[in-house]
Amino acid sequence: MKYIVKNLPEYFKFQEKALKDPERFWGAIAESFQWKKKWDKVMNADMHKADIKWFEGAELNITENCIDRHLDERGDQTAIIFEANSPEEKAQHITYRKLYEEVNKVANVLKEQGIQKGDRVCIYLPMIPELAYTMLACARIGAIHSVIFAGYSSTAIASRVNDASCKMIVCADGSYRGAKEINLKGIVDKALEDSPSVKTVLVVKRTHCKVKMKEGRDVYLEDLTQNVSVHCPAETVQAEDPLFILYTSGSTGKPKGMVHTTAGYMIYTAHTFANVFQYEKDDVYWCTADIGWITGHSYILYGPLLNGATTLIFEGVPSYPDHNRFWAVIEKHKVNQFYTAPTAIRSLAKQDIKHVEKHDLSSLKVLGSVGEPINVEAWNWYYHHIGKERCPIVDTWWQTETGGILISPIPFSTPTKATFATFPLLGIQPVLMSDDGIEQEGNLTNGKLCIKTPWPGIARTIWNDHKRYFDTYFSAYPGYYFSGDAALRDPAGYYRITGRVDDVVIVSGHNLGTAPIENTINEQEIVAESAIVGYPHDVKGNALYGFITLKREISEQEKEQLKIAINNSIADQIGPIAKLSKIQFTVSLPKTRSGKIMRRILRKIAANEMENLGDTSTLLNPEAVQAIIVNKKD
Ligand code: WTA
Repeated sequence: MKYIVKNLPEYFKFQEKALKDPERFWGAIAESFQWKKKWDKVMNADMHKADIKWFEGAELNITENCIDRHLDERGDQTAIIFEANSPEEKAQHITYRKLYEEVNKVANVLKEQGIQKGDRVCIYLPMIPELAYTMLACARIGAIHSVIFAGYSSTAIASRVNDASCKMIVCADGSYRGAKEINLKGIVDKALEDSPSVKTVLVVKRTHCKVKMKEGRDVYLEDLTQNVSVHCPAETVQAEDPLFILYTSGSTGKPKGMVHTTAGYMIYTAHTFANVFQYEKDDVYWCTADIGWITGHSYILYGPLLNGATTLIFEGVPSYPDHNRFWAVIEKHKVNQFYTAPTAIRSLAKQDIKHVEKHDLSSLKVLGSVGEPINVEAWNWYYHHIGKERCPIVDTWWQTETGGILISPIPFSTPTKATFATFPLLGIQPVLMSDDGIEQEGNLTNGKLCIKTPWPGIARTIWNDHKRYFDTYFSAYPGYYFSGDAALRDPAGYYRITGRVDDVVIVSGHNLGTAPIENTINEQEIVAESAIVGYPHDVKGNALYGFITLKREISEQEKEQLKIAINNSIADQIGPIAKLSKIQFTVSLPKTRSGKIMRRILRKIAANEMENLGDTSTLLNPEAVQAIIVNKKD
């Protein structure tokens, strides 16, 4: 592949080329892929209209690029290492040839079950090889996968399945997570009560727990894969045909089904994977994210496989059976590139250092971080104790919407600096905007982080709602993509992402919109109003604080019960991750004269920054603020 950076001057040289003539730059990179038909035009984009197309006219199948293309040269090389939840279970080494066969078998099953090109298939699976097989099987036949993180509740599944009118759900009987066993099929059954579009449920056997199988709807996958061919022709898809939908939280209620299309996403994830991880032949690469998030889509599955890499899928959690599990897995599989989240780093840094020291981590070459700003302490701990001061840390900034990494050091080329994502990747042009939409010139400045020119990996739309796509990302600063994050630029031109500027809170690396949580709380009969804000938490990054007003007075004991009921309903309707860490009942919420809740003030109070509440002159009811401060417990 062209334009893989090997030193800093080369980075600047390539970047100049990429920005001067993006079509030539990306066209040259695309040459090393397998196309059924080449493109007519590399880029055709109008950021003012949020109308973006790459490689128009081209025809391809991404699985031929992820799998078939590698068979001659590395059919016997391991494509996927599967490390199970329990260290007692033998790891699987799945070769590219085996991957080819397994994917094609599932693809044939999908076809047999009536799935056609363009149909949506919901996947609700734990981190097991079948998750990869099913996603790739969808891509093989041109179906659109919609993976839902297997920690989401029935209600969350139903709303996503209905939004995309999925015809099928692929799930497992159960899943293992540390010492826990979860009945996934039971959760799906409940979701299906409200999901009329689903005609078939394919069930993967994982825990062999007892499940109800509904006649005519539910089938075990393994019963079907036994009777199908290991070859399935790769469907021809157009460059801009959707590859997948992935839901992300928005500031307002409904989750946004981000749509990624085929060719641009392929080129972008492949190229950024090669640059950011500097993967070399025979390396073992491990990203600890769940495939249910974009990080897993782009950098466990597609990016690595497009590069013919060996990628590790880990089913478990960092704390099981003990807090050394990550380090044990690195030693066991001689992992070379390790990519994880600040929340995991912070929680592991709190454990006894002997968990790290008893393992040989000398295979490591590059360490990565993603999902939220990494604080200095966590960065330093990672650098010294895991990387032993030998391994550059790539602090990678990007989003579900961007498809791939946009800002990151290139290891061994870009000097790293704690908490800085450093320079944009090739072809990416970040700008910092003032609130009134002026691009901030020069270094040593800050603003809202926007991207000025299109790149191949950007999501093209929100499923069934292009207006919302436009409104969310392209309306604040016409002609620019607005990320929803703020950032600063240091004197060297390095970027540091400072956090979200909308009503999305990142808890343990998971994006949570506050609106759906508030809606859930407000469903309690006694609740009048609620406002959720994030506050700093030393492991989770942020935790949720709920300010709630009630319709009538209740006793202390009833309040305690109500807190439990509220968190149970949040866990039910959204997922346990969205539970509130603190709840404060209050007589009223601070409001503007136009009746809007002043979350900015609540955020300060939740963070214990009372002395610095900012401008409160527009408040309708300043006494509400005083009452909240006086009654705050900690
Ligand atoms: C945040 C995850 C600081 C950011 C790939 C972004 C980060 C949101 C970083 C997207 C980073 C991600 N430094 N903040 N290196 N990476 N973020 O869609 O607020 O799950 O907007 O995509 O995570 O989260 P998402």
